[in-house]
Amino acid sequence: MKKRVAVLISGRGSNMTALIEAARTQDYPAEIVVVVSNRPQALGLVRAREAGIATALIDHKMFGKDREAFERALDAELQAKRIEIVCLAGFMRLLTPWFVNRWSGRMINIHPALLPQFKGLDTHRRALEAGVKQHGATVHFVGVEMDDGPVIVQEPVAVREGDTEATLAARVLEVEHRLYPQALRMVAEGRK
Ligand code: GRF
Repeated sequence: MKKRVAVLISGRGSNMTALIEAARTQDYPAEIVVVVSNRPQALGLVRAREAGIATALIDHKMFGKDREAFERALDAELQAKRIEIVCLAGFMRLLTPWFVNRWSGRMINIHPALLPQFKGLDTHRRALEAGVKQHGATVHFVGVEMDDGPVIVQEPVAVREGDTEATLAARVLEVEHRLYPQALRMVAEGRK
């Protein structure tokens, strides 16, 4: 049986698309059951619909400052769809310990850096400023702290002379699109 997966997004959803495409192949151990966005204008929602995947919008703004109320609505959607694994893919919302613990070991995230380096935003700019030679991408289990938790896979991307934030981001994104499906496969097969 394929594992039932939800992908959580806030934006363009290119990693989501990579997961949807991978999950289309017959021997892939997971199926993308639903894409959930916390932002109505997320381009990924359109892309998911075009790919024939069910979508749900749970707009965090409807819940004001009540993070847990938002998360309870999110959790209800995941339960209703009998989700087994949650993939965060550009989901720009901090999750409370309640939600993280509830999905512990079953929720994964992709981060555009070699964790534990460059947690948070603007990773490519910060990597260039720091002058690192190796940057990259990481898929990890979600822990209570932001961009923290056991690493599943990571892949380095060499920083080139003359790289800009945009050129570096583009090369890392290419790696992300390969890495995320690989990590989900491992988790769905119980190899992580
Ligand atoms: C990716 O770089 C991902 O690593 C980060 O947010 C970005 C999302 O891009 N967490 P996309 O929406 O998947 O295109």
